[in-house]
Amino acid sequence: MNRGSALIEVNEVGPRDGLQIEPVFVATDDKVAFVDALSACGFKRIEVSSMTSPKAIPALADAQDVLRRIRRAPGTIYTALIPNVRGLERALEVGVDEMNLVMSASETHNRANLRMTREQSLGELLAILKYARAHGDVPCNVSLSTVFGCPFEGDIAPDDVMTLATRLVDAGARGITLCDTTGMAFPNQVAALCEQAAHTLGPDIALTLHLHNTRGMALANAVAGWQTGITRFDAAVGGLGGCPYAPGASGNVNTEELVHMFACMGVDTGVDLPALLNIVATLPDLVQRNMTTPLLAAGPRLQTHPAPAWLAERFPA
Ligand code: COA
Ligand code: ZN
Repeated sequence: MNRGSALIEVNEVGPRDGLQIEPVFVATDDKVAFVDALSACGFKRIEVSSMTSPKAIPALADAQDVLRRIRRAPGTIYTALIPNVRGLERALEVGVDEMNLVMSASETHNRANLRMTREQSLGELLAILKYARAHGDVPCNVSLSTVFGCPFEGDIAPDDVMTLATRLVDAGARGITLCDTTGMAFPNQVAALCEQAAHTLGPDIALTLHLHNTRGMALANAVAGWQTGITRFDAAVGGLGGCPYAPGASGNVNTEELVHMFACMGVDTGVDLPALLNIVATLPDLVQRNMTTPLLAAGPRLQTHPAPAWLAERFPA
């Protein structure tokens, strides 16, 4: 049954998931300008950076500077990805509106990405949730990587994902993001896990879908999740993105394509598509490489073009 909402929230993760894998370091000034431009597009949330080890993610080593310097638009929630207690401390120093904690549902990906066992990561996240509650009650969401499949282990049992999510929710997480880290998800799998998560975690826990387009299924997966009642989606402008510690990883679901698709379907994202397309045009300069941006090239579906001049001669009125 279609329970798709007419209103959804887009969390722009381009400055974090997008830039974390880029080989050329984007200067801090340019990152700040990028986030400020995104702030003018009407996003509900922007994930500005990650408070990870600069050795693990050198591309985002300036996370604190970026968070200090961005102009914060009223109504936009500014978040950062946090893997451990050290990351929490760094986030609190600069102020974020919401923490996005991270660990993997897969033991091997957790070890490769976060250099901890899942039990160690869970210990860090539980400590962060406890601290956040005691200090100003900063809202915490948890992003669970590889829930639709792990590039090292293959399928991950949905019941194991639910056990992990339940432990985090019981400890105070307000939301869970189901992450398809390397684009292994397919539509009916997405629908089934979203249904199971909504049923297991209950209506008070915000569920978000984090999709990658590695195998071309991201938009189909977004619709599948939306039809089960999911209203929050992570996406990266220009389809930037990928986890450097997951083999074969590539871009997130493309924000402009997600916004455009839902607009066609009459679903409001609150995002200003023309303003966003102006940013898409600047991305090759930002990341210093060529990019394929089909929606920018073609324009939104009802942006029509002049008929070829020769038609008037061939078919006179
Ligand atoms: N922020 C900044 N520095 C950090 C840090 C953080 N959150 N956590 C640890 N460090 C520093 C330590 O201070 C230490 O520095 P030193 O070598 O100068 O003494 C160094 O990093 C190693 O610390 P350690 O606790 O041993 O970390 P680790 O090497 O085991 O790595 C993580 C653990 C989680 C910090 C690291 O794997 C990481 O940041 N991973 C993020 C991966 C990621 O973002 N992937 C993409 C998103 S899914
Ligand atoms: Zn991702």
